[in-house]
Amino acid sequence: MTRMKLMTTGLIVIGCALYGATTCTAVRASQDATKTTWDAVFTDAQAKRGDALYSENCAKCHAPDLTGADVAPALTGGDFTSNWSDLSVGDLFERMRIGMPADKPGSVSRQDNADILAFMLFKAGFPTGAAELPTQTEMLNQIKFVAQKK
Ligand code: HEC
Repeated sequence: MTRMKLMTTGLIVIGCALYGATTCTAVRASQDATKTTWDAVFTDAQAKRGDALYSENCAKCHAPDLTGADVAPALTGGDFTSNWSDLSVGDLFERMRIGMPADKPGSVSRQDNADILAFMLFKAGFPTGAAELPTQTEMLNQIKFVAQKK
């Protein structure tokens, strides 16, 4: 490492200490923003937990197989994935967390919403991996929902 680079790194560290977490989060966010739903962002076990939670909290309106019914839209299939494509997983998470279940908005916890979202991603055909989908919106915002594998 050159002397110049060492100095820059040192300055960032000092900057983080001085201005607190926001500066550091911003630096990290710009580095991680390239992750997508194709990067194995949830686990099998999490999707399984989400399956049970979905049946309990969502299936009566969105149908057991996620295809929707009456006014409740499908949460799977081409219309759904293209609707959310190029938005962030955090946007979808917030949509669920704040607006759903429609008859009792905000009654599902962050953890349960993350698990249900993992189940929805699983149903949409996205790959599972070793790490669970996080529950913090700012981390979910760093994962882009991409309908078609490039
Ligand atoms: C009482 C019926 C009802 C329940 C229960 C319910 N929803 Fe909904 N949901 C709706 C309706 C109606 C809409 C469309 C109108 C709106 O956006 O509010 C909707 C819209 C949505 C959308 C937006 C879809 C899109 O592509 O725009 C998502 C995502 C969603 N629901 C997820 C969930 C999840 C996850 C649960 C369970 C935690 C859930 N809903 C429970 C009725 C329901």
